[in-house]
Amino acid sequence: MNERAEIPTNEIENQKKVMQQILESSQARPVQPLAYVDTYGCQQNESDSEKLRGMLAEMGYGFTGDEFQADIVIINTCAIRENAENRVFGNVGALVHTKKAKPTQTIVFCGCMAAVPETVEKVRQSYKHVDLMFSPNVLWRFPELLHRTLTAKGRIFETDANEGAIAEGIPAHRDGTVKAWLPIMYGCDNHCSYCIVPYVRGQERSREPEAILKEAKQLVKDGFKDITLLGQNVNSYGMGLPCKTDFATLIRKINDIDGAFLIRFMTSHPKDASTELFKAMAESEKAARHIHLPFQAGGDRILSLMNRGYTHEEYMEKIAEARQQMPDITITSDVIVGFPGETESEFEDTLRLVEKAQFDAMFTFIYSKRPGTPAAELEDTTTREEKQIRFDRLLELQNAISEKKHTKYIGKSISVLVDGESHDERYPLKARTNGGRLVHLCGAGELVGHFVQAKITHCNSWSLFGECGGEHI
Ligand code: 5AD
Ligand code: SF4
Repeated sequence: MNERAEIPTNEIENQKKVMQQILESSQARPVQPLAYVDTYGCQQNESDSEKLRGMLAEMGYGFTGDEFQADIVIINTCAIRENAENRVFGNVGALVHTKKAKPTQTIVFCGCMAAVPETVEKVRQSYKHVDLMFSPNVLWRFPELLHRTLTAKGRIFETDANEGAIAEGIPAHRDGTVKAWLPIMYGCDNHCSYCIVPYVRGQERSREPEAILKEAKQLVKDGFKDITLLGQNVNSYGMGLPCKTDFATLIRKINDIDGAFLIRFMTSHPKDASTELFKAMAESEKAARHIHLPFQAGGDRILSLMNRGYTHEEYMEKIAEARQQMPDITITSDVIVGFPGETESEFEDTLRLVEKAQFDAMFTFIYSKRPGTPAAELEDTTTREEKQIRFDRLLELQNAISEKKHTKYIGKSISVLVDGESHDERYPLKARTNGGRLVHLCGAGELVGHFVQAKITHCNSWSLFGECGGEHI
């Protein structure tokens, strides 16, 4: 059971006072100050950036997509793999030029990389144009940190990867009008041996169900049609809360909200995906028929070294149960190839699992050593080339499966939610099936935000293509 700490209301009120102060100075400027927010990584980070934008908007900032125009540049970073980090370093390095062109520019480095001590040191020493660096757990203090940065002489580092808490009442400036992220919990207690997340986002803590329901009702009222409940491990939602509740109960309660909308969630951990969860999904008509259930590896020894808490067979039983409860469910997954010591035959266990599971889509990653994690201590004898060959084999297998699955949609008329427009003249709309598959659609722009019937005409391994056949809702 976790200790659960909620930030006291008076501390949030103090941040609001600082926002008011910054708003007054923004309004006193001859032109509105502009912010550029660049986000890396997962949906949790997208959601955090919406909060940063919400606070910036309340402080009088407008937004720009051009970092040269910006008075403040925020880089919200991801630490999950080395190549993501390298991209961040490249882009932060390039901000030397924007700052040279506009010396009053404030550069902010936040997100998961800002909670990794080695990265903090590197930024302190070698990226001297970064003015403010703070870790995800202090995001709610952004107004105060920004105020200190704007008024202080030196640089500000608030980078402790502390336990973290729940901060309610922070405004969010959401990106679209159709899809919304709704965080239900923060942090992670799983300690998968390869993963940096527990170190940078702290202990798992759940929001009170009342706060989540209030936000969900408001989102529906505001017209959002696709609500994704977010957490590193949503299936363990509710642990540590004073009231006894769980994720299945939360789904049922959100399902009871009036309105036409879909409930999605991510990410689920197989060890906590319970019969009760599948039942709640099956019995909730608004719960999308999709589960993203990362399996990570097919070999039992590797799964144990990864500290995943299930075996190959147990994973297969889970997805069989999900399909038994919801025969039309789409299942997607994540897998890591080249975990330290993975043998050829253990890799073949992964291929075998993928062949049997028949995922609708799968995200494949090459193992990336994260300093400070238990797996970083393991001996890694597989060469980069061998890992790449395994990666390519896995991708080829999954692409064929995805394409085969997508082919089954051809000729069918299905309900999809149109969630945006695209630049492709032939398919100006983007939509998602109830199961989350991407559909490129021909149709008129006013259909954005509506559920429509779409006739699927063709596909590839990543997406479906179709035409609108009359409005649904
Ligand atoms: N190396 C490679 N992939 C990783 N993931 C998490 N940590 C690592 C790592 N160190 C993958 C997992 C996870 C997804 C979000 O990223 O597959 O599910
Ligand atoms: Fe990246 Fe993980 Fe942080 Fe998300 S929680 S931004 S995936 S390190």
